Amino acid sequence: MNSLNSPINPAWCRVNACANVGVQKPGSLKVGVNVSKEVMEAEGRFLVGTYARAPVVLSNGKACKLYDPEGREYLDLSSGIAVNALGHGDPDWLRALTLQATTLTHVSNVYYSIPQVELAKRLVACSFADRVFFSNSGTEANEAAIKFARKFQRFSHPDEKQPATQFISFTNSFHGRTMGAVALTSKEHYRSPFEPVMPGVTFLEYGNIQAATELIQRGNTAAVFVEPIQGEGGIYSATKEFLYSLRRACDDSGCLLVFDEVQCGLGRTGYLWAHEAYGVVPDIMTLAKPLAGGLPIGAVLVTERVATAISYGDHGSTFAGGPLVCNAALAVLDKISRPGFLASVSKKGLYFKELLIKKLGGNSHVKEVRGLGLIIGVELDVSASPLVNACLSSGLLILTAGKGNVLRLVPPLIITEQELEHAAKVLLECLPALDKAPSQPSLKLNHEFNHIRDSAGNSGSV
Ligand SMILES: Cc1ncc(COP(=O)(O)O)c(C=O)c1O
Repeated sequence: MNSLNSPINPAWCRVNACANVGVQKPGSLKVGVNVSKEVMEAEGRFLVGTYARAPVVLSNGKACKLYDPEGREYLDLSSGIAVNALGHGDPDWLRALTLQATTLTHVSNVYYSIPQVELAKRLVACSFADRVFFSNSGTEANEAAIKFARKFQRFSHPDEKQPATQFISFTNSFHGRTMGAVALTSKEHYRSPFEPVMPGVTFLEYGNIQAATELIQRGNTAAVFVEPIQGEGGIYSATKEFLYSLRRACDDSGCLLVFDEVQCGLGRTGYLWAHEAYGVVPDIMTLAKPLAGGLPIGAVLVTERVATAISYGDHGSTFAGGPLVCNAALAVLDKISRPGFLASVSKKGLYFKELLIKKLGGNSHVKEVRGLGLIIGVELDVSASPLVNACLSSGLLILTAGKGNVLRLVPPLIITEQELEHAAKVLLECLPALDKAPSQPSLKLNHEFNHIRDSAGNSGSV
């Protein structure tokens, strides 16, 4: 019998032992020969095959380093897809978590709980919002925003037979995988196998002011969903003019403006909220990924005007806003919202971009380095996979975005300049892997390096 079929599996014990003893240097970890191989094989047998995972098992981590069961070390520039903003095992986050775990974990929203109310208070104090609704993920936050927008239109136009129910979303957008959020997500292959998804969504070109203004002013749009900086779609920043014109058109027509800051929000840009870089304020903002430092959470921040339309029973969740996640989130928000912390993200982001331009910009496959703070995209004229794989073999974890041709660099916000230098060095050393990659016919093969785009998406050098 395979050891993974037995109830007490020595391999698993070894993984758990690693997790329990805290983080150790790879050399001092017990070497778990073949643990990774067994885990990968078991995953293939027992899990629904929704993920094309990178061939690595991660069993423990500390700050920006992750380790596999065999003790190999990886520098983490993925942060669990822009989640682990404080890295792995932040001591203040751990303290908040363990204290709350030994006090009270879950009570449901039938009752009041202190960390939830405290977190809402703190989010309101540091944002445009007047009220907060908690969910468990980014897609659920957007799902709630969809319902709130529809309800808002119905509430605001009680005499109209057909209040506005439609939505506008944009090319390269990603808003989640549930039936409403996926309907707002531009990539067709995320939607088409599950149709019919939520009807009434029009996709417009990201940045096309005229098309958006015309459609919004026609009057049957309940809300416009937009990421100020698109993550999954390829690290594209909106321009100031684009967000301003959306705001103006929404104000003129009574449509709501929703900023999805699930990926770009909460300090990643060097601003607490990405929209602060643009000076444009939404009616609704959705948050998730980094908010609880690695625990599942989502949040919908709304103005009083929107909240007034929502009544008891309109929406809800069993788990959302539980004491454990909210206390962890309080520790995260406390750290990230400090001006010194945000300034360090801006500084490191600029430094890293300059470094990447210097080291990678001369390569003919590198088209552009863009982004703001520590959400950085490196666009290639070929698939990024061979480079991502080569980096993995060299102990660097990075993600892709866009059509698979963009490197998505979203390190923990606590990363050091030395670690960023190391990452840039590994990327440079691994670049030759791209020469073996077949070029993608769908990508434009223009070998001119476009340098960099700043926060508002304007081209130019840093
Ligand atoms: C901008 C944006 N919105 C929504 C989501 C969905 O979040 P989740 O995966 O937590 O449901 C994501 C996830 O990548 C995202 O990047």
